[in-house]
Amino acid sequence: MKNLIDILELSTEELDELIALAEDIIARPEKYRESCRYKKLATLFFEPSTRTRLSFEAAMYELGGQVLSVSSGSSSSAAKGESVADTAKTVSCYADIIAMRHPKEGAPLVAAMNATVPVINAGDGGHNHPTQTLADLLTIWREKGRITGLTIGLCGDLKFGRTVHSLIAAMARYPGNRFVLISPEELKLPSYVKKDVLKNRNIPYTQTTDLEGALPELDILYMTRVQRERFFNEEDYLRLKDSYILTPEKLEKASKTLSILHPLPRVNEISVGVDADPRAVYFKQVLNGKYMRMALILKMLEVEV
Ligand code: CP
Repeated sequence: MKNLIDILELSTEELDELIALAEDIIARPEKYRESCRYKKLATLFFEPSTRTRLSFEAAMYELGGQVLSVSSGSSSSAAKGESVADTAKTVSCYADIIAMRHPKEGAPLVAAMNATVPVINAGDGGHNHPTQTLADLLTIWREKGRITGLTIGLCGDLKFGRTVHSLIAAMARYPGNRFVLISPEELKLPSYVKKDVLKNRNIPYTQTTDLEGALPELDILYMTRVQRERFFNEEDYLRLKDSYILTPEKLEKASKTLSILHPLPRVNEISVGVDADPRAVYFKQVLNGKYMRMALILKMLEVEV
């Protein structure tokens, strides 16, 4: 695996191997403590992040490696007009692997085409977020004991939510999964995702605006934030931002075995009252993200443990 730009670059066998490796890291962390000694990860984040950047960095430190970090576009020579291609060539001189987040869709791919070290897409615009999907898959696996035969509800901003696009692409390849797409009309799943991933492959899905009506049939509820930074006008954002707010009262209609995921950050779409519900697993999902990024770094650097 040279780069990871889109989750579809990983076969289901490779996804299963990453999950198995993450499980081994969780069970035997001491075995991996020196695995990346003398290796350096560069985190190049041209868009804000808490979880993705810090979990990549924590992952590399826990593997015994080191980290070089750009935490905003304004603190690098991108602010002086340097291209993504030149940035990638430059950082390849210092680091063994690069994780890049960028507001422009396709920027990590451009970086990968110009870097001489592996590049991981850590989120590009409203497009893809493959390592969030790795965190989501490990979470579903750990909560359900399988990633097949599930009814998965995705709720909120399905248009701009890159984590949604990557998760649907990944889960659609496992047998027996079906999707319930819950969003306002204006924030429906883009037709290219629907056509390429769902319709062309006869994956069952329904679309609705009604969260409460959909809740009883779900095994997984994947809540998402309305992505303010992707809107062209503030008025539309303000009108749509509170379309869905999950509360303990609404959850009374849900299955006792539901698992509630959210890639975070949360704004208002899950009330804090839900956090104490054992079905809320979004902070476990945060921790799972670190383990899957450890597994990914080991695989991409081809480290023998
Ligand atoms: N889930 C996620 O991408 O979070 P951050 O934006 O904090 O990295």
